[in-house]
Amino acid sequence: MSDSPIKQIFDYARWAPSGDNVQNWQFEFVNDLEAIIHGHDESDWLVYDKKGNASKLALGCLLETLEIAALQQGFSTQIELVENRFGKQPTDEAYSSHPTFKVNLSASEPAVQPLFSSIKTRTVQRKLMSRSGLSPLDKQALEQSLPTGYSVIWLDSVDDKKQIAKLMYGNATTRYLMREGYDTHSRIIEFTAKKNDGSPNQLANSEFSKNKIPAKALGLDPLTVIMMEWVLASWDRFHFVATYLAGTVWPKLIMDYMTAICCGTHFVIIAEQEPKTLEDYVNAGRAVQRFWLQSDIVQLGFQPEQTPIIFSEYIRDGVSFTTDVKANTNAQKMDTELKQMLGVDTVNRAVFMGRLGHSNPVQYRSVRKSLEELEIK
Ligand SMILES: Cc1cc2nc3c(=O)[nH]c(=O)nc-3n(C[C@H](O)[C@H](O)[C@H](O)COP(=O)(O)O)c2cc1C
Repeated sequence: MSDSPIKQIFDYARWAPSGDNVQNWQFEFVNDLEAIIHGHDESDWLVYDKKGNASKLALGCLLETLEIAALQQGFSTQIELVENRFGKQPTDEAYSSHPTFKVNLSASEPAVQPLFSSIKTRTVQRKLMSRSGLSPLDKQALEQSLPTGYSVIWLDSVDDKKQIAKLMYGNATTRYLMREGYDTHSRIIEFTAKKNDGSPNQLANSEFSKNKIPAKALGLDPLTVIMMEWVLASWDRFHFVATYLAGTVWPKLIMDYMTAICCGTHFVIIAEQEPKTLEDYVNAGRAVQRFWLQSDIVQLGFQPEQTPIIFSEYIRDGVSFTTDVKANTNAQKMDTELKQMLGVDTVNRAVFMGRLGHSNPVQYRSVRKSLEELEIK
């Protein structure tokens, strides 16, 4: 089965994006035309996935990528939710933490998929981008890449950018105030790991990490990366530097404030109906992936800015995501700002937010686990 159609198609699908590159899936290949995707969320440790919604969006990205690759190779796909390995049915309440999809391929006429060529090149640009706006044609191509039921709000005036920069800065304050943020960040950023003999470990490095975000993909200067590795070594150290030495001001200015100013536009993808179910989030993820792939086709840099939406959902649904009172209060303040920016009804339907712009090619990026590593035998 090594080069069976299903494996070839999954070899493309595994390039789908996931929050913090967690790749919240495993694959079980049943035969040449059938596979099971065992999805899971990261709600037990990842502060950005407390409701499992980031994981559901990522699963949607995976399914969309899978379908694009399959159609391009001459297969139509049938995908259905099935009982998971814990014996839970899709209708059970506890199911959505481990959604499981049965995928069947059937031969059809190959149909050229314009988005196919971007599956492996689509990535995140976290560096500063050009402030020149998007052309009407690029905006139109991006809007048209979305399936029915989704629309996009563009925020590209100087005032919009300043407002979002303030929001992103304030949002980063929430992330850095809380221990839960530290626990997440210290796990998801990959710094150059050394083997026992002191030589760099090719599988874990700061440039191309296969299961984390490589430090050099964060868009920081080399000195700040070194500082960050040192500071993230322990919570006590991080907390001291953040509290008494204003140690998070510089990263917030570079990674959150300046990036929000230096881009062509911000965008918010809006669903017609407020997403509530597993299927709603998976479908939203499918829409996001089409939009993201299209941005690569028109050669625009793309960075998600998803945390304002995530924290807003937590506030709205009363999800307890931190024990830090200041972080909680700050998240409430940011939620109010987001509502003022988008309107209360629109905030509830906002599924994905980010920035776009002309930029240099990305030098460092997350790569992926191999198909063998993702496979359950
Ligand atoms: C649901 C979701 C949320 C994400 N949120 C953010 C975010 O807020 N900021 C960010 O820089 N990247 C975000 N990402 C991007 C991931 O970190 C990125 O896709 C992953 O590390 C793989 O890297 P690649 O897309 O460059 O291949 C998000 C991705 C997904 C699917």
